[in-house]
Amino acid sequence: MGIISGGTAWRWSYRRQNRAMRISLRNIGAATLVVTTLCLVVILNRDNSSYDLSTGISQRQLPSVLKADMIHSPDDDAQNPAPTEVPPQPYCERNHSMVNVSDFDTLPHHIQDFLFYRHCRHFPMLLDAPDKCGGPEASSDVFLLLVIKSSPPNYDRREVLRKTWAQERQHHGKWIRRVFISGVSDTGFEQQRLNKVLRLESREYGDVIQWDFADTFFNLTLKQMLFLEWMEHRCPSVRFLLNGDDDIFANTDNMVDYLSGLPDGNDGSKHLYVGHLIRWVGPIREKWSKYYVPVQVQESNSYPPYCGGGGFLLSGSTGRIIYKMSHSITLLPIDDVYMGMCLEKAGLEPVSHFGVRTAGLPVPSSKVDSYHPCYYREILLVHRFLPYQIYLMWNRINEPNLKCDGSQVSNL
Ligand SMILES: *[C@@H]1O[C@H](CO)[C@@H](O)[C@H](O)[C@H]1NC(C)=O
Ligand SMILES: *[C@@H]1O[C@H](CO)[C@@H](O)[C@H](O)[C@H]1NC(C)=O
Ligand SMILES: *[C@@H]1O[C@H](CO)[C@@H](O)[C@H](O)[C@H]1NC(C)=O
Repeated sequence: MGIISGGTAWRWSYRRQNRAMRISLRNIGAATLVVTTLCLVVILNRDNSSYDLSTGISQRQLPSVLKADMIHSPDDDAQNPAPTEVPPQPYCERNHSMVNVSDFDTLPHHIQDFLFYRHCRHFPMLLDAPDKCGGPEASSDVFLLLVIKSSPPNYDRREVLRKTWAQERQHHGKWIRRVFISGVSDTGFEQQRLNKVLRLESREYGDVIQWDFADTFFNLTLKQMLFLEWMEHRCPSVRFLLNGDDDIFANTDNMVDYLSGLPDGNDGSKHLYVGHLIRWVGPIREKWSKYYVPVQVQESNSYPPYCGGGGFLLSGSTGRIIYKMSHSITLLPIDDVYMGMCLEKAGLEPVSHFGVRTAGLPVPSSKVDSYHPCYYREILLVHRFLPYQIYLMWNRINEPNLKCDGSQVSNL
């Protein structure tokens, strides 16, 4: 039996790797943006809604000049001065007392960094998608909102998703909408260029939400919580969410069908949290591991049950509950585990769904093409596809004369 896309460990490593690689010097880079912004105070404040674009909900600390240019004019790059190095952004100070945590000096740099900024939960918004759900009242018309974690450089993935499984459309009369959530990558000119790419995409498709924090592996929980905060204001009545990475293959038609016929008649107002269920695990204590979580970050040796973060489905109701619970739970860098903690605190359970294959898809024999569309027609989600594979598979499973005689799908 072959396994498509490898096992869980492989998934983990790939999933986080891309994001983890672009961490260096981000503070300087983020600060550069602030300075740039300060130089461009002439631009009108276009934020005319009650939800404050520049600060998320909590209109804190930001000087009003910053607010004015948080959505940049389309062609402002031409006027941008060269990046200048300044101290980190003023809106959330690092907690220097963390140096007094036991053996702080011996912790890897990214973990020290996590501890310094662990308390920071609000970052200015750089790009918004205010009408994504047609306004808070109309948001119940959105049946499935696809919430895709994407780092700024992953332009190719976003483009392919827009024309395949994440296409905004109606399926059997139910609306599917899409939003990419992003932080800021890299520093200096490269950071400016990547931000510009997202601005162009946002202008063309209106499907990007970006906040001014470093888009790193250990900031994924932050990204997730910022999204839930956004949802509370922009799409409070959305029925269901697919929360996933930008390298998954999701059969969104199947998802809508599955969510339309839930046994308990759930229309999004009851609890739902399904995916690849992971239980009886705890923090990895090996220092060499990318997933290393030392006792200084989490003392307990066990994690609550959770669904693997490659992709999972949840109801709008459960999303709102998780967000509420998160206010009183210290951030943990592993985003999917943190969601499990929020569920546990609310007394809710994550559930396994056979169609969510974040750890790969078993294929009966090596003689069969492991990418045969018949394997993918019936599933909900598989992790780790390259852009061309997503493009190909989406087109193949939607071919009207695709014939699956059953032999290929015997193992599903
Ligand atoms: C800063 O860190 C210290 C030591 O860990 C902690 O006691 C304190 O609550 C932290 N402050 C904030 C604002 O999180
Ligand atoms: C660390 O602890 C020492 C001793 O309690 C204290 O004097 C010092 O101010 C602390 N440092 C920080 C940055 O909180
Ligand atoms: C998270 O983002 C903030 C804001 O950019 C940054 O200061 C912090 O270092 C990041 N944390 C990690 C662990 O990358």
